[in-house]
Amino acid sequence: SSDMLVDSFGRFHNYLRISLTERCNLRCQYCMPAEGVELTPKAELLSHDEIIRIANLFVTSGVDKIRLTGGEPTVRKDLEDICLHLSGLKGLKTIAMTTNGIVLSKKLPRLKECGLSALNISLDTLIPAKFEFMTRRKGHSKVMESIDTAIQLGYDPVKINCVIMRGMNDDEICDFVELTRHKPINVRFIEFMPFDGNVWNVKKLVPYAEILDKVRQHFKGVERLQDHPSDTAKNFKIDGHVGTISFITSMTEHFCAGCNRLRLLADGNFKVCLFGPSEVSLREPIHSGLDDAGLKEIISAAVKRKKAKHAGMFDIAKTANRPMIHIGG
Ligand code: GTP
Ligand code: 5AD
Ligand code: SF4
Repeated sequence: SSDMLVDSFGRFHNYLRISLTERCNLRCQYCMPAEGVELTPKAELLSHDEIIRIANLFVTSGVDKIRLTGGEPTVRKDLEDICLHLSGLKGLKTIAMTTNGIVLSKKLPRLKECGLSALNISLDTLIPAKFEFMTRRKGHSKVMESIDTAIQLGYDPVKINCVIMRGMNDDEICDFVELTRHKPINVRFIEFMPFDGNVWNVKKLVPYAEILDKVRQHFKGVERLQDHPSDTAKNFKIDGHVGTISFITSMTEHFCAGCNRLRLLADGNFKVCLFGPSEVSLREPIHSGLDDAGLKEIISAAVKRKKAKHAGMFDIAKTANRPMIHIGG
C-alpha cells in the first residue's frame, strides 16, 4: 500500500466504488426526477480499458475491495468482462455490486464465475403495486427471484437495501425484518438522503432511532452486533432469525470517522466523498496522455483534500451535488 490513499486525517481508503453507467432500468423517486436526468454522451464515458487501468492503479496502491455501482451496473454490456478483468488484479480481495435486481437472476451464475462475490440488492417494498409507484416501473417479482437465486448460488453476503420514507414504506418495516427469519440475508434500513432532483424533505426522513423502536416493539431479542469500524451500517441480530438487520444512519448519525471509500464515476470523475461536491477528472488527463505516476499524483492530491466529515443534512440539501443516479451511492 502507499501514501496515495491516506487522507490528512489518517484515514486509509481500501474501498473503491466504481459507477459503471449513468443509465438505469428503473426511475426510483428517491434517486431521480420523473423526467430522468441528463446523460453524459457515450464518447465522454470511461471505456472498459480505462476503467481497468484506473482500477489497477488503485489496487496496486492498496485498494482490496471494489464495488460496482451505477446507475444500474447490469445495463452495461461488458459487466461480466469487467468483473473478469478485475478478478485478475493481484491484491483485490472482494468484487461487490449494488444492483436493483431487475435483470440480475439469469446473469448471476456467469457473474460468479467472473469473480463477483458480494451483492447488495435494492428493495424498498414487498408490495408489487407500491414497487411500481416507487420505481415508476414494473419488476417486483424479478427482484424477489434475484434475491433467492443469489442466496442459492452462494453469494456472500447478500444484503437488501431498503430506503425508508415516511408515509411511503415505513409501514413495512416489520415485514422486512420478518424476511430475515428464514433467509440468510442482511436487511439494511437506510435513512432517506438528499440528492439533486430527489425532492428531499426532512418530513420524509424516518430517523434510525424511530425505526429501531418499531422493530423492538414487535420483535424480542434484538441485539446490537459489533460493527466493523468502516461499516456504513449499525448491525443487529434477532433471536431465532438466520438473517440480520442493520441501519444506515447517514442523516442522524454520520459515520465519516471510519470512512474508507473513494468513488470513480462513469464519466471518469473522481469523488472523495458522497456528499462533497468537489470532483476531479481522471479521464481528461488520461486522454492527454498522462502516465500512471501523474495520475497517482492527481488522485493523491484529491484524497488529501477530503474533509473530516460531511455537512449536516440541511446544508447537504442546499448544496449542489449530483443526482444519486450519477454517484451510485
Ligand atoms: P458495503 O460494502 O456492503 O458496506 O455496502 P455500502 O453500504 O457501502 O454500499 P451500498 O451501495 O449498498 O449503499 C447502501 C447505502 O449506503 C446507500 O444509501 C449509500 O448511499 C450509502 N453509502 C454508501 N457509501 C457511503 C458513504 O461513504 N457515506 C454515506 N454517508 N453513505 C454511504
Ligand atoms: N437516500 C438513501 N439511499 C438511497 N439510495 C438511492 N437513493 C437514495 C437516497 N436518496 C440507495 C439505493 C441503493 C443504494 C446505492 O443507494 O436504494 O440501494
Ligand atoms: Fe436505478 Fe438504483 Fe436509482 Fe433506483 S436507486 S433509479 S434502481 S440507480
